[in-house]
Amino acid sequence: MNVLVIGGGSMGRRRLRDLSYLCAGGVLLFEPSEERCAEVSKSFGVAGFTDLQTALGHQPDALVVSTPPAFHEPYVRLAIERGLHVFSEVPFLLEYGVLKEIAEQSPTKKLVMGVSHTIRYYPPYRLIHDLINENAIGKALYVEYSLGNYLPDWHPYEDYRKFYANDQKLGGAGMDMLLHEISAIQWWLGNISHVQARLSKVSTLEIAGPDTHDVLMRFASGTVGFFHHDVIERGTIGRHVRIVGEYGTIEWHQNQPAVRVYHGKEAREEILGYEKAADWGSAMEASRRAAELVAQKRAGSGVIPTASAPSFTYESCYLREISHFLSAARGEAAYAGCTLVDELNNVAAFESILESAETGRELAVQSRLNV
Ligand SMILES: NC(=O)c1ccc[n+]([C@@H]2O[C@H](COP(=O)([O-])OP(=O)(O)OC[C@H]3O[C@@H](n4cnc5c(N)ncnc54)[C@H](O)[C@@H]3O)[C@@H](O)[C@H]2O)c1
Repeated sequence: MNVLVIGGGSMGRRRLRDLSYLCAGGVLLFEPSEERCAEVSKSFGVAGFTDLQTALGHQPDALVVSTPPAFHEPYVRLAIERGLHVFSEVPFLLEYGVLKEIAEQSPTKKLVMGVSHTIRYYPPYRLIHDLINENAIGKALYVEYSLGNYLPDWHPYEDYRKFYANDQKLGGAGMDMLLHEISAIQWWLGNISHVQARLSKVSTLEIAGPDTHDVLMRFASGTVGFFHHDVIERGTIGRHVRIVGEYGTIEWHQNQPAVRVYHGKEAREEILGYEKAADWGSAMEASRRAAELVAQKRAGSGVIPTASAPSFTYESCYLREISHFLSAARGEAAYAGCTLVDELNNVAAFESILESAETGRELAVQSRLNV
């Protein structure tokens, strides 16, 4: 199988690393920046092109779209027109109307539509998903979910003012992260039915758009909640999550290697290490492999990797995700990731958040889904 990766930035490089291992000899790169194309293709030992038509001339069977969110659309359309399987980073497509049109036509084409949502492969997310579904805390009543990451730290090797993440129109200013996290929240708790949002610009960072995002949520199930994201927070460790259920509470801080469950009926706490996640075995197998791939890259640049006991690495999530996409494209298994229907719900909630922030009103997500 030949796979053409579009965009050799931070995610494109991860995809190239994993694909070069999973389908050695069949990986190509299209990257419009000459300097980056030369550097990245050399680093991964793949053929690199700055001209799309020349790259397509090598007859790829699948496209992996790792461009800024606002530029996914032409490549997803191109893949469908040419009958190629396509994997596109989060968000699969940034606009609800376009996504709906593509979702309506894709079943007739029998192509794999690889909607990326890497975090589903993260064991604590799987653990929380399964706890909710197994009724460990009874009906979920309230969720509080927050995270923040200082934008200039995202890509330490480049000026944050020079890549998409500082510009709302390109899918930055936190838009990408809103979609990324909403997808996980809906995976856990079902569809968000109403949102009331406030998007603010409070820092002096040079961002064309908001740097802080606060959303009150209501879910179709009756659960209510609050979601906060920002790109200004320095030094905090990742996500904080509290899910309050009728009989107990699920609590997780990303700096903890375990999820805490409080069982109210028995007044008992349970600390569930990530190894309790149903997919822990595959996560560890992929972690070992991902650690080797990262070490090989380091060795290639002259740093000798030291031996260490295998431990979980988030890089395994990318490896598992793209390997599921490849299996689906090869016809070996159905695509195990997020579906286009899930993604329609994510993008509808996202667009409702934007509209709610503009109008200052609570909005029903359903009204967008019915359009
Ligand atoms: N799965 C995850 O956990 C995760 C994490 C971060 C980012 N993402 C997603 O990955 C995508 C890319 O993010 P990134 O951090 O790699 O960005 P990036 O800026 O590092 O890389 C984007 C690359 O695309 C190239 N590019 C720009 N415009 C292009 C165009 N029109 N055609 C082809 N190439 C073009 C750029 O030159 C750059 O090399 C985004 O959609 C983002 O939301 C996903």
